[in-house]
Amino acid sequence: MKNLKLSNSQEQSKKYIMNFINRVPITLVKGEGVWVWDENGKKYLDFVGGFAANSLGHCHPVIIQAMTEQAKTLIHVSNQFYSLPQIKLAEMFVKNSCLDKAFFANSGAEANEGAVKLARRYGQLHLHGAWEIITTYNSFHGRTLAMVAATGQSKFQKPYLPLPAGFVNVEYNNIQSIKKATTEKTCAVMIEVIQGEGGVNIPSENYMREVRSWCDEKGILLILDEIQTGMGRLGTLFGYQLFGIEPDVMTLAKGVTGGTPIGVILAKDEASVFVPGDHGTTFGGNPLSCAIGVAVLQYYLEKNIPGNAEKMGQYFRTELEKMKQKYGFISEIRGKGLLNAMAFNKDIAEDVLYGCLAKGFLINQLNPNTLRFIPPLIINQSEVDRGIELLDEALSSLSI
Ligand SMILES: Cc1ncc(COP(=O)(O)O)c(C=O)c1O
Repeated sequence: MKNLKLSNSQEQSKKYIMNFINRVPITLVKGEGVWVWDENGKKYLDFVGGFAANSLGHCHPVIIQAMTEQAKTLIHVSNQFYSLPQIKLAEMFVKNSCLDKAFFANSGAEANEGAVKLARRYGQLHLHGAWEIITTYNSFHGRTLAMVAATGQSKFQKPYLPLPAGFVNVEYNNIQSIKKATTEKTCAVMIEVIQGEGGVNIPSENYMREVRSWCDEKGILLILDEIQTGMGRLGTLFGYQLFGIEPDVMTLAKGVTGGTPIGVILAKDEASVFVPGDHGTTFGGNPLSCAIGVAVLQYYLEKNIPGNAEKMGQYFRTELEKMKQKYGFISEIRGKGLLNAMAFNKDIAEDVLYGCLAKGFLINQLNPNTLRFIPPLIINQSEVDRGIELLDEALSSLSI
């Protein structure tokens, strides 16, 4: 990351917080809709959206209301007891998806860990003890040790070797690689319908259906990690709806509460094989996070937020394609809904990111030649236009 001068708060951060990420040197103090402000009062258009978690933008009134009402009523109780917001949120997910049962966790990685445990239990019960999970290269499933093993990217794996056993990484968008890797030890395939962090990689038309058929043929589970693609990001409530298939297990997190920690495992009845004691959590599914989830999902359904993501995403990509015509160094625009990427034929993503930052436009870099745009799903056309304008200004002032 660029060597810009750090403010006092950023120096304090360096002193007290572990050095786990290269941060962009701005300290955000306020947000509203698709806009955020830094500690100096500078305003930015936010196309990072809390890594796609701020689905309804910043400080949405629906979230504030659900949060304050629930905070005044009951914030946390243990899973030793029933609680109403948890039951309501589970019911809403079941009624609006192809899945039958829910488990609530605290993050995406934790939801995926739970899904893997579920698959291993399924393997013990129905597949003669099969316990291996097939995942793909360039996937991203989270930062816990097992999810690093599941994530098929060596840069995340190397620092932590040896990794937990039981994950086989194979090529994405290649059904033969999954077929070849399947053995009597395989209990599940776990994939993203579009790889998000790994580059916004969109599989070919048939891939998901082929994976579904193969899992059916072998009697193994299909786990879809929809932590990034779910909750309207691709223009449908869940990504699987775009591909004409149904998963056995699906995980969600990012957009569910619009910015407070949650993770969700949803499973078909046949795959919901946990029995008491098999899994658990202290905070997962607590009344506060579930009440926010209920309000967010209700708002999604009432206002057709996925429909807005589809419409704004189409519009955004059309404008990005125009930019590709204008700048020869843009090699590809790819995406669906409001998960979009711009790839360059040179390693200039960081320069573009900092150019945008100076102009008050926040974007995300996936690798040296790729940018990702994941704005809140409530964005409107004039805000998309503003983003395009700022990106254009940043691209035209590059010295290349
Ligand atoms: C597809 C996918 N799975 C899992 C995760 C991990 O989620 P979390 O950071 O909430 O643990 C992410 C986060 O980017 C993701 O994009």
